[in-house]
Amino acid sequence: MSPTEPRGPEVDALLNLLNEQRVFEPSADWRAYAIANDPSVYERAAADPEAFWATFAAELEWSRPWTQVLDWQPPHAKWFVGGQLNASVNCLDRHVRTSRRNTAALIWEGEPGDRRTLTYWDLYRQVCQCANVLKSLGVTKGDRVAIYLPLIPELAIAMLACARIGAVHSVVFGGFSAEALRDRINDAQASLLITADGGYRRGQIVPLKQTADEALTGTPSIQNVLLVRRQPGEMFPVHVKEGRDHWYHRLMQDASADCPAEPMDSEDMLYILYTSGTTGKPKGIVHTTGGYLVGTYATTKWVFDLKDTDVFWCTADIGWVTGHSYVVYGPLQNGATVVMYEGAPDWPSKDRFWEIVERYGVTIFYTAPTAIRAFMKWGTEWPAKRDLSSLRLLGSVGEPINPEAWMWYHEHIGRRRCPVVDTWWQTETGHIMIAPLPGLTSLKPGSATKPFPGIVAEIRTGGGVAVAKGGGLLALTTPWPGMLRGIYGDPARFVDQYWTRWDDGVYFTGDGAHVDEQGDYWLLGRVDDVLNVAGHRLGTSELESALVDHPAVAEAAVVGRPHEIKGQSIAAFVTVKEGIIATAGLSDELKEHVVRKIGAIARPDQILFAADLPKTRSGKIMRRLLRDVAEGKALGDTTTLADPNVIRRLKDEYEALES
Ligand code: WTA
Repeated sequence: MSPTEPRGPEVDALLNLLNEQRVFEPSADWRAYAIANDPSVYERAAADPEAFWATFAAELEWSRPWTQVLDWQPPHAKWFVGGQLNASVNCLDRHVRTSRRNTAALIWEGEPGDRRTLTYWDLYRQVCQCANVLKSLGVTKGDRVAIYLPLIPELAIAMLACARIGAVHSVVFGGFSAEALRDRINDAQASLLITADGGYRRGQIVPLKQTADEALTGTPSIQNVLLVRRQPGEMFPVHVKEGRDHWYHRLMQDASADCPAEPMDSEDMLYILYTSGTTGKPKGIVHTTGGYLVGTYATTKWVFDLKDTDVFWCTADIGWVTGHSYVVYGPLQNGATVVMYEGAPDWPSKDRFWEIVERYGVTIFYTAPTAIRAFMKWGTEWPAKRDLSSLRLLGSVGEPINPEAWMWYHEHIGRRRCPVVDTWWQTETGHIMIAPLPGLTSLKPGSATKPFPGIVAEIRTGGGVAVAKGGGLLALTTPWPGMLRGIYGDPARFVDQYWTRWDDGVYFTGDGAHVDEQGDYWLLGRVDDVLNVAGHRLGTSELESALVDHPAVAEAAVVGRPHEIKGQSIAAFVTVKEGIIATAGLSDELKEHVVRKIGAIARPDQILFAADLPKTRSGKIMRRLLRDVAEGKALGDTTTLADPNVIRRLKDEYEALES
């Protein structure tokens, strides 16, 4: 990996704003009633981080107490060593013994408008039943279960059922292709796949089972398929393979709602979640039980100031880490009422989100900058039509939020009443790492502000020198409870990817950031070969492998291009094989090919055919120069190129195409 200068879609705008210092202080009301409103928490947590995290851990339910908070042998951490607990008990059993038993745990709305509300008691019973179904299909502690579902309650139920019996879930986002699903199933050697007949997206049926069937042609580890019917009474036509595929609703009918929870060691695996990195092969990020639960519990409670009266809506799909931590584990451990919506924000019209906020009285709303920028483009009339007065806190995650989008969100959704918490974290960190505490932190549009208490971040130069004020690479210098414990089946890659950038046991995030005089962090985007397209992480080499897999393609290089709504878009430079003619038809075919290989989120926005790609004398493609071309910038240093004419020609061709 060769980190370049921090760059991101809004770097210049952000840096200009650093000087402007627009600051929003928490109101007196917020300060008075916030759960975290004592400014000394930062110092106390810094003085004794283990004691700080242990206070949150003590609020959870353990079947055996831990004997040691942290065992840190860089880069390997064990948290709450010796302790035993179960994630589903902490999300469910704990609450059904209290007056929360009959409060809503999940308020779900399907895209066509169907609705379901599950109380904690309902959810508890269905999770226990589902856990018994899993057992009846031979799933035992430590087995991996792949989950490929639409955003329906059964997705949360399936995850918690796995957790209840100690099986490891691997959720694969429903938008991924058959091939992507197959690779993930095989990497984890999953024995069971839980999928559905279909789901809805923008009025269309997403034929999940059909895609799963294609994946299942090459997944020898799968013994059974548990098939959820998306909607009672309705059945999308599916092929049911005798002996392998089992209808969920049939097995649930006879399943007992009594299922004792498996006591899990704090460091037992809870889940695997695949994410893109700098090589072609996605990484199975491993999270364990105790630390992850403590980290998600604590950050949900403090960053979102979550109280019993709240209605919490995180719009992320559970197929991403944001959904794992802030639709399922964080809010349910806190006993919250969680809103889940299956479909698109503009279906059937562009006020769907605001209609949902109004209908359920959502108080806390957490979404991505891509969505906010789309709302801005659609215009203020859509939120203006709806009663948003229930909202009291807004959150943002997944990409750098440009100050303009932050201000729009604050003004038109929060109506200037609601603090906006910009939260920086990663699949690998498990939970929020840098974010304001709304009752304490001065907010600056565009800045994620300060590390959560107990977290230590640092800006470093490539050489490892700490930068007290200014830009550089974002590092995390001390362990935290929800940190990844490894890459599934690839211990060497885990060390190499995150812990070898510097030689002092410090985690490298892959992000560039700037820290200002007040110690506030301004995130600037990835500095490695990872793109962030509409909040989705995609590795350039993953995209390139998909392109060169096409028989017409000789070579491909992919770069990100600033995009008004998606943050970044995908530009692919492609050389074709001898005798192939590069046509517009071929360009479309290549785009489709990438969609088939990875999924619709990976569709290239632009394909540029090139006679040759710019390479160093040793044959390495110089992406830096291709980025300059795609961004319409003056070319950087070209002296190390084998043939500088290649890039000049490309630039001319590109400009001709753009004009
Ligand atoms: C980016 C999503 C700026 C960042 C939770 C990180 C952000 C990657 C922010 C992780 C933010 C996430 N401001 N950038 N508030 N939040 N990112 O694993 O580049 O899907 O490394 O986790 O998203 O993406 P992931």
